[in-house]
Amino acid sequence: MTSHAAIVPREKLDFGLDGDIPRYWFEGDVFKSRYFDALSTIFPEGERYFISCVRDYRDQITDPQLLQDVKDFIRQEGQHGIVHSQYNDRLKRQGIDVDKLEATQHHLMFNVLRKHLPAAVTLADTAAAEHLTATMAHMLFERRDVLGKVDPRMRAMYAWHAMEEVEHKAVAFDVMQKVAKVGYLRRCFALLLVTLGFNLNALISTRYMLKCDGYSRLQRWGMFAKGLWWLYGPGGVYMSMLGPYLQYLKPGFHPWQQSELQSYRIWLDTFNRTGDPIAAGNVLQSGGA
Ligand SMILES: [Fe+2]
Ligand SMILES: [Fe+2]
Repeated sequence: MTSHAAIVPREKLDFGLDGDIPRYWFEGDVFKSRYFDALSTIFPEGERYFISCVRDYRDQITDPQLLQDVKDFIRQEGQHGIVHSQYNDRLKRQGIDVDKLEATQHHLMFNVLRKHLPAAVTLADTAAAEHLTATMAHMLFERRDVLGKVDPRMRAMYAWHAMEEVEHKAVAFDVMQKVAKVGYLRRCFALLLVTLGFNLNALISTRYMLKCDGYSRLQRWGMFAKGLWWLYGPGGVYMSMLGPYLQYLKPGFHPWQQSELQSYRIWLDTFNRTGDPIAAGNVLQSGGA
């Protein structure tokens, strides 16, 4: 087992999100920019859901270390929601109805899932989603090329979010295993469902944004064909995280068994030295550090 990273809530960070970030901030590529924007619209409600699902078990936790981890997890996720909402306000000014996207997601998560499913199931969903986000952190920053040439403010925001996802990646999992005592099959099934739901949600929201941007059906088809290849094709961004992703299905898996991100140490050292999230994001750029 590799060493634990400490869970450090970092608050009031300035990513310059009110600056002149171009609409297509991801290499000037419409699909890539809007795909990541779609992720940003999913995070605030998603993170409120994760917090609620872990909180369901807080009173049953007796291990003081796990209790502290849960506290820090909630603070980190709370900050992620705040910062993504700041960015999402930009999207609103670009004509994207973020409120509508969030309302639909809120309804599904809080009025359907949390209302009708047992707490152990929604906690298993949360642990699976946390595995997905931690694996995405691997994919985004161990492969320097993915976010190598994007707007530095956006890289900084995603780097900070990804690194904190790595720090707290075992919290929901530990509550699920040690307190809710969720079994192996339910854990695996949750990963399947969450992966499907997450990917569908991201693609549907991307499609909606491209529509808002005024692209015709034909243009959207073209962008999607190229974009889906970039995501899911051989050597695509998601394909490179398949190995670490599938480890979740191993009986006896624990998030800290996965090798530590080289980029995490680099990011952390730069952040601790400078206190500047943009400088910390910049060292992760292609060819940097
Ligand atoms: Fe998060
Ligand atoms: Fe998280």
